[in-house]
Amino acid sequence: MAEIIDGKAIATKIRSQLLIRANEFENRYGRKVGLAVIRVGSNPASAVYVRNKIKACNECNIRSLSYELDENVKSEQLVELIHTLNADAQVDGILVQLPLPKHIDERAVLAEIDPKKDADGFHAVNAGKLFLGEKDGTVACTPRGIIELIKSTGVPIRGKHAVVVGRSNIVGKPVAAMLLANDATVTVCHSRTVNLKEITLSADILVLAIGKSKFITADMVKPGAIVIDVGMNRDENGLCGDVDFDGVKEVAGYITPVPGGVGPMTVAMLLCNTVDGAVHE
Ligand code: GUN
Repeated sequence: MAEIIDGKAIATKIRSQLLIRANEFENRYGRKVGLAVIRVGSNPASAVYVRNKIKACNECNIRSLSYELDENVKSEQLVELIHTLNADAQVDGILVQLPLPKHIDERAVLAEIDPKKDADGFHAVNAGKLFLGEKDGTVACTPRGIIELIKSTGVPIRGKHAVVVGRSNIVGKPVAAMLLANDATVTVCHSRTVNLKEITLSADILVLAIGKSKFITADMVKPGAIVIDVGMNRDENGLCGDVDFDGVKEVAGYITPVPGGVGPMTVAMLLCNTVDGAVHE
């Protein structure tokens, strides 16, 4: 029976430390740490995520500036807002909630954020620094949270076989780079992978960012493995992960629940990135 990794409790601890740092910043500089949050359109999941992020800012004494733009906004207007925020000395971090509506070129928009204010770590400069092992970049929030959750088990990452299923720019690719930086042997699997089960069965650390409800079953998991479920899928029973939790918990050594695993860590790491960015200016 696996030990449950309590992401919510770990995130709460990180947030209480951040509140102290944010208060210290305010005492020292006479203003609050500031995070600008931009949402475009009416994606219901994005609305929930953004609301959680803004609430978390308030609880950590970080000033949030919320911008809600119309679904049909032109790229130029979004870019203009980003340029204004880049130039605003009260703004330490900028976040553009993804996905953006189809008519907007996500990559081009993210490229306009000042890399020093890139609270999400999605800018090519920050992604590049991660891949080159340069420590002064911002690391994407979900991957940073995943590494914290793995480290919370006390099991060393060095020399382990880490298997990441999913190759997105916001989770799969950066978490693979971070696991590599922590001396794991890393395999990245995706929708075209042949013999997925054979590979997942050899994983000491298994990170799932697929987007398919209960896709990973007990027969695909090595006994004692650390299983990190990044899935946020909605099915007839509500929110569920990429892992068949009830089955896999009987086999794994450690497992994250959904909700209450990776999700709260993503928010905590966003606040970390914002405070880190403010302090390093
Ligand atoms: N969409 C899904 N995850 C994320 C995230 O971590 N940050 C942003 N900005 N958008 C997302």
